[in-house]
Amino acid sequence: MSKIKKIRLFCTDLDGTLLGKPAATADFTETWRAGGAERPVLVYSTGRLHGDAQRMIRISGLPEPDFYITGVGTMIFDVSSGGMIEGFTNTLNEGWDMEKVRGLVAGWEGITEQPEEQQHGWKSSWFWNGRTKEDIATLESEINSAGVAAQAVYSSARDLDILPKRANKGNAVTWLCRHLGIGLDEIVVAGDTGNDASMFLLDGVRGVAPGNAESELLEILGDSRAYAASGHCAAGILEGLVHYGVFQTIIPAKQQPPTGL
Ligand code: GLC
Repeated sequence: MSKIKKIRLFCTDLDGTLLGKPAATADFTETWRAGGAERPVLVYSTGRLHGDAQRMIRISGLPEPDFYITGVGTMIFDVSSGGMIEGFTNTLNEGWDMEKVRGLVAGWEGITEQPEEQQHGWKSSWFWNGRTKEDIATLESEINSAGVAAQAVYSSARDLDILPKRANKGNAVTWLCRHLGIGLDEIVVAGDTGNDASMFLLDGVRGVAPGNAESELLEILGDSRAYAASGHCAAGILEGLVHYGVFQTIIPAKQQPPTGL
């Protein structure tokens, strides 16, 4: 039997995962800080764009991460250097045509574009309520047939992101791990909706799905090795991190957070 490797990096979604249950978010912060220098590299991977993600971290009191992966795996920000890692974003251009995507998607019935602040050059985001896996696959194949190398990622039975073929949360964390010399069998990933699925499906990763995970994610995961926590949001994530030995115990926060995030 191969030896189980120590966890060197933890990559987690924010909304509905570390956020959503303020008391549990505060417990995560307390427990993480107690880990000191021994703790793994911390990566927040979110559908939000960078400024918005940073704002959420400030408001919620979550610890500053080492890296942000934002815009559903389209950008990687290195906190220590204070800049985007352009080497990653440059890999996304091949076959991508944002204007063509917008023109193609706009014609679909019931689809509306998300506000301007949710869009950037490699992320075209829309609202499309209550669609099936087949609807999403049909839309994706229509875009591909029009010659654009894109993928459609559907979350929360509402949010539709059209991304370059090489982008998504799974590919972004894979790129980052390679950059840092960390194996995928040395990481834990966590998330609750469809845009997190690509992280869980990576070879060798250990995953944590909180008790509130959406059925769209659980269906994709099937019987894969994700730890299905009973606690919701950060309570479930803490449960999973104890399960994988990242923390020995959960340290309850001394103070409750100021907001209802
Ligand atoms: C976040 C983003 C939104 C995206 C969604 C799902 O809510 O703000 O643009 O569609 O995540 O990835």
